[in-house]
Amino acid sequence: MTTPAKTTIIDTDLDRIATAEGRIAVLIGPDGKLNAGAKRVNKLTRGALARMIEGGALEDMKPGEVTSLAWPAGLKAEAVDILRLSPRASAIEARKGGAALGKLLGEKGMTVLGASQVRPVELLQGIALRAYSFTARKTGDQKTPGAVTMMVKDASAVEADAKSASAVVEGAFFTRDLVSEPANHLTTTEFANRIKDMESLGLKVTVLEEDKLAELGMGCLLSVGHGSASPSKVAVMEWMGGKDGDAPLALVGKGVVFDTGGISLKPAAGMEDMTMDMGGAGVVAGVMRALALRGAKANVVGLVGLVENMPSDRATRPGDVVTSMKGDTVEVINTDAEGRLVLADVMWYAQETYKPRAMIDLATLTGAIIIGLGHENAGVFSNDDTLCDAFLKAAAAEGEGAWRLPMGKAYDDELKSQIADMKNVGGRPAGSITAAQFLKRFVQEGTPWIHLDIAGVASVKSDTAYAPKGATGWGVLALNRLVADMLEGAGTA
Ligand code: BES
Ligand code: MN
Ligand code: ZN
Repeated sequence: MTTPAKTTIIDTDLDRIATAEGRIAVLIGPDGKLNAGAKRVNKLTRGALARMIEGGALEDMKPGEVTSLAWPAGLKAEAVDILRLSPRASAIEARKGGAALGKLLGEKGMTVLGASQVRPVELLQGIALRAYSFTARKTGDQKTPGAVTMMVKDASAVEADAKSASAVVEGAFFTRDLVSEPANHLTTTEFANRIKDMESLGLKVTVLEEDKLAELGMGCLLSVGHGSASPSKVAVMEWMGGKDGDAPLALVGKGVVFDTGGISLKPAAGMEDMTMDMGGAGVVAGVMRALALRGAKANVVGLVGLVENMPSDRATRPGDVVTSMKGDTVEVINTDAEGRLVLADVMWYAQETYKPRAMIDLATLTGAIIIGLGHENAGVFSNDDTLCDAFLKAAAAEGEGAWRLPMGKAYDDELKSQIADMKNVGGRPAGSITAAQFLKRFVQEGTPWIHLDIAGVASVKSDTAYAPKGATGWGVLALNRLVADMLEGAGTA
C-alpha cells in the first residue's frame, strides 16, 4: 500500500535548524509574534521573517495559508514555508493548516517548528493526510514524500496521540488505495486478499464464498454478481479490543468493484468512474485497519459485500424476482440499483450473526445524492436520533461533511411491487431517500442504524481539504472518532 510519510515528534532543538534539509515550516499567528524556532530562522536568514511581517505580507494571508521563501540564504533548507496559524488553532484548523504544508512536502522532507502550537498532533496528521498520491499503476521511479520532523515543547506528552493519529492516516491511505485501484486489478478476489492480509495486524478475517452465501440465502447479493466472472464474496473483519461480551458496532460496506449497471447498462461517458463503487467497503476496511493499528479498546466488526455488476447471459434481468436472506422477495426493476441489493443481505447477516449495538452502512449508493449535496457532504439517514447526532458531531469535529436527510412512510410506499414484496427502485423523485427506505426494510426492530450515502464524497475531481483530487478516504476520520467517543469513552476534546 501507499505508505504515509514518516512522522516524528521531538523536543525543540534549535541547533538543528541551520542544517535541516528539505523544507522548514514556521507557524506564525495573527499577532506576528515569532516563537523560539521562528526567531532562530529569522536570525539565520538575517531578518527575512521580520521583513515579511513588517511589509504586511502576513496580514494579507488568510488563516491556514502558506507563503514560501525559496532557497533562503543562511539555511541548508531548500525553502521556508510560513503557515499563518494561531497557536490556539482548533483541531480542524490545525489539520487544515497541516494539509497546506503537506501539499508542499517533497522527497527531502520537512522540519516543522511547532513549539507553541496547541494542536501539534492534528497539524502533523494534516501534513501526512495531504501528502498522498496513488502511483501503484505507474512505472518508473516515483517520488515519495520524505520524513516529517516536528519540534514541540514536550514530545513525550504527545507521542501516544501522535501514534493514534498516524494509525488513522494509514487507515485513510488504505481506503484511498482501494478506491483508486482500477477494477482489473482490484477484483473481488484481490479485495478479499488485501483484507485477509490484515490478519497480521490482529484482525480476525473470514471470507464467505459463493457456496456459503447461497447456503445462507443471500439471493439479493448473489443476483448482482451473477453476470461477472469474478466470484461474489463477503469479507468479515472482527476487532474485539473492548470488553468480552459487549455487543459490537457493525460497519457494513458496499463493495461493487465495478458497476456497469448490468443489463440496465450505464452510458459510456464517465463509466470509468465506477471503479470507485466499492468506496463504502473501502472505508470499512480502512477504519478497521486504523482501529487495529491503534489498538482500539472497542468491539467493532466490519462486513463488506464484494461483487462486480456486469451484463452477460447469466446476468440478472430487469423484472427478475430474487429472494433476500431475510426472506423478503425483491422485483429487480433496474439492475443498476444494485448496491442496495448487496447491502440488504450483508446487513441482515451482520444483525443475525452479531446482534450489534448499532449498525452503520456506507455506500456509493445513488447519483441523486450528488445532485442534492454535491461533493461537500455525504447523505446521512438514520432511525435513531441519538446515534445520528453522535455521528454528526464526530464528523463535524473531524471536518468531514455530513448532512442528515429525512425518511418516512410516503417514501417507503414508492417501493411497492405488483408481484413481489418490494421493487428495488422508487421513481426519480428523492432517489437517495427511497434507496435508504429500501435499506431500512432490512434493519431489525431495535437496531440503531445509520446509512451513509458517500457517492459524492468518496472520490472527487478536485483537491479537498485533506486530499489531492481522487480518492478522499472520507469517513475514516469520522468513524474512528465515533468509535473513540462512543465505545472508548474518549469524549470530544
Ligand atoms: N453506483 C451507482 C451510484 C453512483 C453514481 C455512485 C455516481 C457514484 C457516482 C449506483 O449503483 C447506481 O447506479 N444508482 C442508480 C440508481 C437508480 C437506478 C435508481 C443511480 O443513481 O442512477
Ligand atoms: Mn448501479
Ligand atoms: Zn453502484
